[in-house]
This record gives sequence, C-alpha cells and structure tokens, in this order.
Amino acid sequence: MSLHDRESAAFFHTYKRLPLTPERGDGMYLVTADGTRYLDMFGGIAVNALGHAHPRVVRAITEQAGRYIHLSNYFAQDPQIRLAELLLRHSGMARVFFANSGTEAMEGAMKLARRWGSTRNKHAIVGFSNAFHGRTFGPLSIMDRPNYRDGFGPFLDGCSSLPFNDVDALRAGVGPSTAAVVVECVQGEGGIRPVSPAFVAALTTLQKQFGFLIIADEVQSGAGRTGRFLAAEHVGLSPDIVTLAKPIGGGLPLGAILGASSVAEVLQPGMHGTTFGGNPVACAAGIAVLEEIEEKNLMAHAEAMGALFLSQLQGVVKAFPGRCKEARGLGLMVALELTGEADPVVAAMRERKILVNGTDRTVMRFVPPLIVGADEITRTVDTLKEVLAAHSSF
Ligand SMILES: Cc1ncc(COP(=O)(O)O)c(C=O)c1O
Repeated sequence: MSLHDRESAAFFHTYKRLPLTPERGDGMYLVTADGTRYLDMFGGIAVNALGHAHPRVVRAITEQAGRYIHLSNYFAQDPQIRLAELLLRHSGMARVFFANSGTEAMEGAMKLARRWGSTRNKHAIVGFSNAFHGRTFGPLSIMDRPNYRDGFGPFLDGCSSLPFNDVDALRAGVGPSTAAVVVECVQGEGGIRPVSPAFVAALTTLQKQFGFLIIADEVQSGAGRTGRFLAAEHVGLSPDIVTLAKPIGGGLPLGAILGASSVAEVLQPGMHGTTFGGNPVACAAGIAVLEEIEEKNLMAHAEAMGALFLSQLQGVVKAFPGRCKEARGLGLMVALELTGEADPVVAAMRERKILVNGTDRTVMRFVPPLIVGADEITRTVDTLKEVLAAHSSF
C-alpha cells in the first residue's frame, strides 16, 4: 500500500492531502525523498515565519527540551514569561494567556468577553461574513460559512455574523447587549480581504456609543506578517483583545490571547486554563522567532517584499485581464483573485515545483515565510504567468 492509501485507510477524511510527501524542509524549500526541491510560498499556512528548520528555532527547541518539556501551569516558567513579555512589548497590550491553537485562543477570547459582559448585562458576540476564526463551537458560532458550519448546529446563543465591511448592517447589528465584536483586519482564509477604513471608523464610533469590546483575530495576520506587529495598526484599530497563533510557536502548537488594560483583571484563578497551553518548548521556539524577526528587521522586510509581490501580481492582472480579477494584499498576505477556480492553477504551479495555496475557491493566497526574497517572488510570478499562458482553459 502507498503512503497515501495507508493515510486514507487510517484517518478520518478531513484533509485533502497533496500528492507529494516532503522528507525535510530547508529554509524556503521543502525537499522530497528523491531530492526534488519545492519552493514553499505558503509556509505551513502562515506558520513558518522563518522558513523550515531555521537553526535558531532548532537550537531553541533542543536546548529547552533538554531543560524541561512540560511542567504544568502550576509553575511559573521562564520561556513563557519571556515570550509573554515580548508579545506585550510588541503589541502594547497588558496581559497574556497562552493556548494551544488559533481556535482555542478565539474560544478563550470569547469567554473573556462573556465574563467581562456578565457584570454589564452584555452577552452578544458579533462576527462578520466570510471570516474564519477556527473550527470549535465558539468561532463557528460567529462565522457564516456553510462549508464549515453545515450539519454542526445548533451553535452558541447570542452569537451572530454580520456582512463584512457593511457599515449600515454594523449599525443595525450592534447595541447595548453587545459584549464583543470580532474582526480580522485582513481576512485570511476568506481570500485576503482587508477591512475598509470606513468600517473601522464606524466600529470605533459604535464602540464609544455602546461600550463593547473589540477582538482582533490576528491568528494569521499577526506577529509581523503585514509589516507591522499587528494588522490592526495599519487601520488605526485599538482592540481590547487580540488573538495570535500560527507563527508564535515557531511551528509548535501555541496560541495566545492578549488583553488590554480594560480587561486585565477579568480572569481570576480557576476561571480559564489548559494543560498544554504555553508549553515551554513551544514558547522557546516562539522567542527564537520573535527575536529573529526583531534583529533581522523582518517586519520591514515583509512590508517591502509584500509591496514587490503585489506590484508584480498587478502586472499579472494587466497581462491576463480575462483570467484575473484583482491582486490585493497587506505585507506578506498577498492574493490574486482569478475569474475561475484557483485549484487547477495551484496544481500547475506545483508541477513546476512551486507550492502555493488556493482559498475561497477563486483566490490564490501567498503567505510565504517572512524570509522570502525578491528572487523567489519573481520566480513565483514568472511561473504563474507561464501557467496562465499555457492553460487557456483555467
Ligand atoms: C484568522 C484565523 N483565526 C483562527 C484560525 C484557527 O486557527 P487554528 O487552525 O490554529 O485553530 C485561523 C486558521 O487558519 C485563522 O486564519
């Protein structure tokens, strides 16, 4: 039996696996057993900020594993504290809670908002259309996408999803009972769609009027990918709660809830917790990632490379107007929206040894490691042009 047949026999069929099996990773590349090198332009879906097998991350993991791998949250642990301090310094927030994943950070953020609202007669939590916040019941309850929700209801009471970037719907959808509004400043899974300045302005005004919390889901956009530590900084949004995950554990499972001073005292001993959240090895890896981002100025690099990528993709839109709708992006969250399905283009890129990702059916999403260089971007875009020129049917 092939590896893929064994996989298919052993697992619930939740994932569509790609027809290639990496043997190891090396910076911007994934390498198969026969030595074929694939340029990895989606970096574990925005997780591998420093690419694969970065020596600093490997060293941090090895050293921490030799000290202790797990202690339990009965103990203060210096890797947790150092990472928390880094996250607070970069974000300007006041408190951290470590979870294991993005969806778990979102669950905790929603619980925090509910607990905060419980003494203020506020319980409603609002999300937006086309958003993605994870696959557990809290996040699903504020999402609207049938492919993630169908057949899993009923969802949490008091949760809803309003049309994204629709100011009138926002005004009609929040009120005195709103505890929190949850927003991705750039929708990732939803196709790299930025929140509009008018929407942010309305949200801020309504927050002043009704006194709800704003939760920024920065699981995909956070930790420097957009050129700033948080995507919220680009639009002048000051969230009360921020969720992070993906890159902050250096590839190990780690999520975080960051809280501003407005919510700093809401959670008290026993109210929320987790066995594995804040695992010290994951935290050590996260410290290595954040220190490298800082020392090598990778946020500025992400901004510059993102701008280059976007301008090259705008060239593709001009060259293939019938095939492409739009190029858009913020830093290294970059997308090319096609007029047809993205999957065949993604497959043709893979045949040419470049790994990219399709999302929201017609969108090619590029979330490469922050170490990506101009050559790799140019190679990706040139190959994309080749693919579009060679296949007139998609
Ligand atoms: C914006 C956003 N929020 C939440 C999540 C959920 O994260 P996880 O898959 O770690 O649960 C994701 C995952 O893609 C995401 O992109």
